[in-house]
Amino acid sequence: MSHPSLEVIVLAAGKGTRMQSRRAKVMHMLAGRPLLAHVLSTADSLSPDRIHVVIGFGANDVQDYFKACPMKNEFRWVRQEQQLGTGHAVKQALPFIDHASTVLILYGDVPLVSQDSLNRLVEAGQGDEVAILTAYLDDPRGYGRIYRDESNEVRAIIEEADASPEQREISEVNTGFIAVNAGRLKHWLDRLDNQNRQNEYYLTDIISMAVSDGFKVKGIQAGDPYAVMGVNSRQQLSALERHIQRNQAEKLMQSGVTLMDPERFDLRGTLRTGQDVVIDVGVVVNGHVDIGNNVYIGAYCVITDSVISDGARIESHTVIEGGHIGSDVRIGPFARIRPGARLDEEVRVGNFVEVKNSSIGQGSKVNHLSYIGDATVGKQVNIGAGTITCNYDGANKHHTDIGDHVFVGSSSQLV
Ligand code: UD1
Ligand code: CA
Repeated sequence: MSHPSLEVIVLAAGKGTRMQSRRAKVMHMLAGRPLLAHVLSTADSLSPDRIHVVIGFGANDVQDYFKACPMKNEFRWVRQEQQLGTGHAVKQALPFIDHASTVLILYGDVPLVSQDSLNRLVEAGQGDEVAILTAYLDDPRGYGRIYRDESNEVRAIIEEADASPEQREISEVNTGFIAVNAGRLKHWLDRLDNQNRQNEYYLTDIISMAVSDGFKVKGIQAGDPYAVMGVNSRQQLSALERHIQRNQAEKLMQSGVTLMDPERFDLRGTLRTGQDVVIDVGVVVNGHVDIGNNVYIGAYCVITDSVISDGARIESHTVIEGGHIGSDVRIGPFARIRPGARLDEEVRVGNFVEVKNSSIGQGSKVNHLSYIGDATVGKQVNIGAGTITCNYDGANKHHTDIGDHVFVGSSSQLV
């Protein structure tokens, strides 16, 4: 028997009142990417037939951001003009969905759900059963609770706001992820009402409807509690951020990197490292960074989208963005390397030096208080303290060329 097609609906229209923010909640950053980006790449990895993303609050910002991010599967935006609840949100996507398909519902504010859990969920939701992903949490506060009967069958999901004190003691929670046949989903959504404490159309109410229509609801367990945590507040956002950072630091150390303090290292992107790399405290890495062998990164450096070759030594408080740093280069302390900077082997860049869109040849030195922008500097050049290139005439940027073995004295202005 061939599987029915799989359609994913991602809910991302909510304002996120508890974030106290003007931005849509799903656009808050986690490990360098919006919450929604984490969910969309997991959805993408399932290779579904289609992905529908329901947006509403801050919708234009959401669309603008994702226009620039290519994914394997294209996704369709669906608008939910008024945020009347998760059930109402899902309903907005249904007209675009084939009724024979299996629908997988994901929440844009639960970013770390695993591909494995979702695969198991989809598998379970493909027949006549409704599958929900649940988890046991030590602190279930804030989540809908899974209500089971005496024979341990799932009967309903009870939202915290509507739960009795006894029901709040239940530690099995609803993660929000559901897999169900689209036609049946539509049938139940059409019957939803908003007669509850929050006057919202709860998606979770379809569970008791399914049960009373004689369908079995299967609870699939997600093992890792962090994988099912939702972000409703800044505190929860920071808890997940620390979780990701701890895991990443652990992996880096396993691969042979020395982190002087794994609690004080932040990677907001991807980092490739060679052997015997030492990273001092307070370093932040953004975007894609590639570090070679025997590299030292001093305290409080910020490194973004750059390549740092073997033997380089980056002293403390140096900021590097879009730089290509050759082998055995020394930079800093307190230097700024900006996009388009290329430093060849054994270059020295000292304190309070800014280099932008320039290449500096092998063995050259710019040791103190200088600005090198839009320039080509040859090999074995010495640039004296306080030298600046001034190649912007108010309208056009010109290029400055300095040959090999040139000596530029202190306080020079190269116009
Ligand atoms: C929801 C579940 C709860 C579950 C928890 C898991 C419901 C009624 N409750 O509660 O059982 O334990 O998630 O994290 O579903 N959204 C829309 N449109 C709306 C309302 C919400 O798109 O009108 C989106 C939000 O952007 C968010 C997601 O749906 O991404 C969940 O909404 P939220 O208000 O955070 O629900 P919870 O109260 O966390
Ligand atoms: Ca939530």
